[in-house]
Amino acid sequence: MIRPFSLPDLKSILQIENQSFPKSPYDWRTFLNLHYLYAETFLIYINPSTSPLEVSGSGSPRSQDEGLGVDPEQRLPPQTKGCGWGTIGRVNTNDGRKEGKILAYIIFSQDGHIISIAVHRHHRRKGVGRELLQTAMKTSSLRKAWAEVRRSNQGAQAFYSNMGFQITGLVPNYYGNEDALIMEWTPADSPPYPSRQK
Ligand SMILES: CC(C)(COP(=O)(O)OP(=O)(O)OC[C@H]1O[C@@H](n2cnc3c(N)ncnc32)[C@H](O)[C@@H]1OP(=O)(O)O)[C@@H](O)C(=O)NCCC(=O)NCCS
Repeated sequence: MIRPFSLPDLKSILQIENQSFPKSPYDWRTFLNLHYLYAETFLIYINPSTSPLEVSGSGSPRSQDEGLGVDPEQRLPPQTKGCGWGTIGRVNTNDGRKEGKILAYIIFSQDGHIISIAVHRHHRRKGVGRELLQTAMKTSSLRKAWAEVRRSNQGAQAFYSNMGFQITGLVPNYYGNEDALIMEWTPADSPPYPSRQK
């Protein structure tokens, strides 16, 4: 199930963030800003089959990065202590219902900028990222989609390539000491929604 982010999701999102981007994770303040700026296009993926009592593993290191439209090196350090929202690995909705485990998130702008996407490390290569990115690509106002990707992040490059994105540019030192590749998709480029090969 995919639905917009809400505040009780924050702790789970921070865990996924810290394990996915150990070098430069967004902190809780950044996520709150992004929630404010992109209320309709900050989406989370919930595993509907997860038992409500199951908890996710602890966060691990983080390595790659995504564009925020600001210098990523200026991001604030992670400050998750004292953040009292949410529960670990499951969601308590505002109306008290229990949902499954949060597996991933995506944040994008209405004009197609993929600001960040991350999937829980234990749930990668299962089509979760594809489903989230397809949701962004299907957003009606998008005429194209693009993302910044670290040059060293070959997994993300393979992921975007599989989704029909092509490298269209390079921003030197975008990540301080590392270049960003610009990967872009337009409907004319390719079949927009490739199916799984497995
Ligand atoms: C990149 C990321 C979002 C992909 O999510 P995912 O759910 O694992 O991706 P999917 O299972 O939907 O993969 C779709 C296809 O993309 C390609 N792909 C995805 N990850 C890949 C990898 N690490 N290596 C090679 N190909 C990959 C494959 O072709 C895959 O299809 P297949 O599994 O049937 O072969 C995830 O690996 C992640 O969170 N990485 C850390 C954060 C990150 O780097 N985000 C992107 C920043 S630019």
